[in-house]
Amino acid sequence: MSQFKICAMSGSLRKNSFNTAALRAAQELAPAGVTIEIADLSDIPLYDEDLRHEGSFPDTVMRLRAQIAATDAVLFASPEYNYSVSGVLKNAIDWASRAPNQPFDGKAYAILGAAGGILGTSRGQWHLRQIMVGCNAYGVNNPQVYIGGAAQKFDASGRFTDEAGRALIGQLIEALVKLGTKLKS
Ligand SMILES: Cc1cc2nc3c(=O)[nH]c(=O)nc-3n(C[C@H](O)[C@H](O)[C@H](O)COP(=O)(O)O)c2cc1C
Repeated sequence: MSQFKICAMSGSLRKNSFNTAALRAAQELAPAGVTIEIADLSDIPLYDEDLRHEGSFPDTVMRLRAQIAATDAVLFASPEYNYSVSGVLKNAIDWASRAPNQPFDGKAYAILGAAGGILGTSRGQWHLRQIMVGCNAYGVNNPQVYIGGAAQKFDASGRFTDEAGRALIGQLIEALVKLGTKLKS
């Protein structure tokens, strides 16, 4: 198989974020030929239409847009904030979603999420799917990866230790590669 590139976006900027840690698990679990690069969202400014001039964007936004455009698919790790996606993630998606050359258009994406609560971001993930319809992207429907009770599933070094959850992340990446490959053909 030729190289398949995935841009990963975590909706949490926190150093010990469970969501970013889950993306690191995804990097470990990616099969040969699949690379997952985690985008840096920490320096993306708050959306301001005045910073967008005739197709030009702030440098950090240009970097993010180019990173998404250069990959075959997107993997989101979304915390659930008040039953929805975090502002960090929504803000980054909003910047990336503006014309011209909207990089999510027609692209495959998948979602995983980790939360303190037992529902493991399931409500927030539904909102994210709705947002991605607005971006004309195509989501992996199954498996669904909801990491509830996250504090018990990551060790002190941030390793995701839940074996069933790790297996699901592996399956999610497989499904994302399958969908992304189909969409490109
Ligand atoms: C503003 C805010 C709202 C939150 N709302 C929810 C929620 O609706 N559901 C939930 O399960 N956890 C909620 N939490 C707890 C998060 O799941 C928890 O902080 C989680 O660790 C965040 O992800 P991170 O570890 O990647 O930063 C909320 C946390 C914050 C800061």
